[in-house]
Amino acid sequence: MKIVERTAEMQAWSRARRREGLTIGFVPTMGYLHDGHLELMRLARAKADVTVASIFVNPTQFAPNEDFARYPRDLARDAAMAESVGVDIVFHPADAAEIYPAGFQTSIAVSEVSQPLCGVSRPTHFGGVATVCAKLFHIAMPHFAVFGEKDYQQLLVIERMVADLNMDLEIVHGPTVREADGLAMSSRNKHLTPDQRRQAPALMRSLRRARDLAAGGERDRDKLLGAVRAVLAEAPLGRIDYVEMRELPNLSPAPARPAGECLLALAVFFGATRLIDNHVLQFTGTA
Ligand code: PAJ
Repeated sequence: MKIVERTAEMQAWSRARRREGLTIGFVPTMGYLHDGHLELMRLARAKADVTVASIFVNPTQFAPNEDFARYPRDLARDAAMAESVGVDIVFHPADAAEIYPAGFQTSIAVSEVSQPLCGVSRPTHFGGVATVCAKLFHIAMPHFAVFGEKDYQQLLVIERMVADLNMDLEIVHGPTVREADGLAMSSRNKHLTPDQRRQAPALMRSLRRARDLAAGGERDRDKLLGAVRAVLAEAPLGRIDYVEMRELPNLSPAPARPAGECLLALAVFFGATRLIDNHVLQFTGTA
């Protein structure tokens, strides 16, 4: 497996693979890999001739008060993990200037889908994500890119951008990979204290409660949201940022009796660590 640090070299490599008629799969990450990332890479590998993963802690998607500086980084470990699942190239920009050279001034805003949910407490986040992903797509030149459903709003932002800007690649969904006790894997889980870590599986339990109620025929939005909050109350170290139900794919607020596909999404702070999780609810029949 090769590590490429220069955008021009990465583009030259992808251009050559395309000329050979090979299909390029791509998995963008910020590193400190875990099995959630590896699952996306396995998915890409199974579908592509060659697989590119990027590792870049993107400064523009962090607000000044967020955890950019303390975001965990370990390239040697990440490279070994990526290689173990058959990634061909890791694109690891030599420095931030490789991506944002002096004079950089362009940004992409996906106006509506970026606003609710995580966009409320992180108003600049999805602009940073969309812009860096657009750049990474132009650098890795993939036929498809895989994104995790763990960050469902991010997936929707990217899908919207790709459709709106006629980007010539497919966006593939990867399922959320969880620890044995249900906590969604995240590079940020390592910041949890042992007590916070013990309480964090309440996030998944709360979503499962709503899922089970909905499967049993419950259609009242507020009852479902109330059930989620009741389970989250079992984790007193957690402070709810939001618990919401939104319609897919536009993230408009779900009506009192939702129909069709809805995203049940939540964010909870444990100390300074903010965890997110979600579940897609499928309401069938008429409201
Ligand atoms: P990062 O948080 O490193 O995540 C990289 C990819 O892994 C994303 O598509 C994310 O949804 C996915 N992922 C994270 N945890 C997962 C889990 N438990 N199960 C399945 N997939 C999971 O998301 C980013 O980086 C950045 O915003 C990025 C897209 C790279 C742009 O900078």
